[in-house]
Amino acid sequence: MRDRRTLILNFKNYAEILGAKSLELARAAERVSSVVDVEIVLAPPTPMIGAVASAVNNRVFSQKAEVGIVGQSTGALIPESIKAAGAAGSILNHSEARVPPAGLVTTVPRLKSLGLEVCVCGQTPREVRKLAALSTEYLAVEPPELIGSGVAVSKARPELIEDTVRVARSAAYHGRILCGAGIVSGEDVRMAVKLGVDGLLVSSSVVKAKNWDGKMTELALALQASRNP
Ligand code: G3P
Repeated sequence: MRDRRTLILNFKNYAEILGAKSLELARAAERVSSVVDVEIVLAPPTPMIGAVASAVNNRVFSQKAEVGIVGQSTGALIPESIKAAGAAGSILNHSEARVPPAGLVTTVPRLKSLGLEVCVCGQTPREVRKLAALSTEYLAVEPPELIGSGVAVSKARPELIEDTVRVARSAAYHGRILCGAGIVSGEDVRMAVKLGVDGLLVSSSVVKAKNWDGKMTELALALQASRNP
């Protein structure tokens, strides 16, 4: 597993990054991650996965993955297609793309069998404790009410991050623990890392920023500075 801290940038489907504008954001992320010692993983909209993966060196994750057969399965975002597009992994069970538990149990091993990494998301420490058993590379907690709010989970719900880290580690989870929702500043990042996470999931504060390079640099520098020596 990589030693660097991780920032997963979920582009979502914001108007600011649709189509070729995703490539501009991806190039900005590549510039920042070439000077700051933090990995910025990119999660562009589904139709842009292949183009982004070919345009930059950053690893690309899909925003979700679905079960569906290779062959006659119309529209499903299947793991094999994610891999063929050049992605390195997938976010799974995001609050905006929830997956029933039975779906997770089949999708996670299928992604892993293809060599794809998984960032599985939960909304509460209780859910995270169950998700830890999937042994994904990343385990993230995001309280849905703070997503897109501009109010950081690390400031508004510090106990939720501490509880998540505690239950994940007590469930013998050895991957990286992330948090997200409302992260807008370097200070939010520093607080989150102090509470025990290894990285962050972020979206609106970057995507909607007037200066993408500047906002990503602020967040990434805070993450880099919090690295253990
Ligand atoms: O996937 C990350 C996301 O849900 C956080 O969104 O806009 O609160 O940074 P945002």
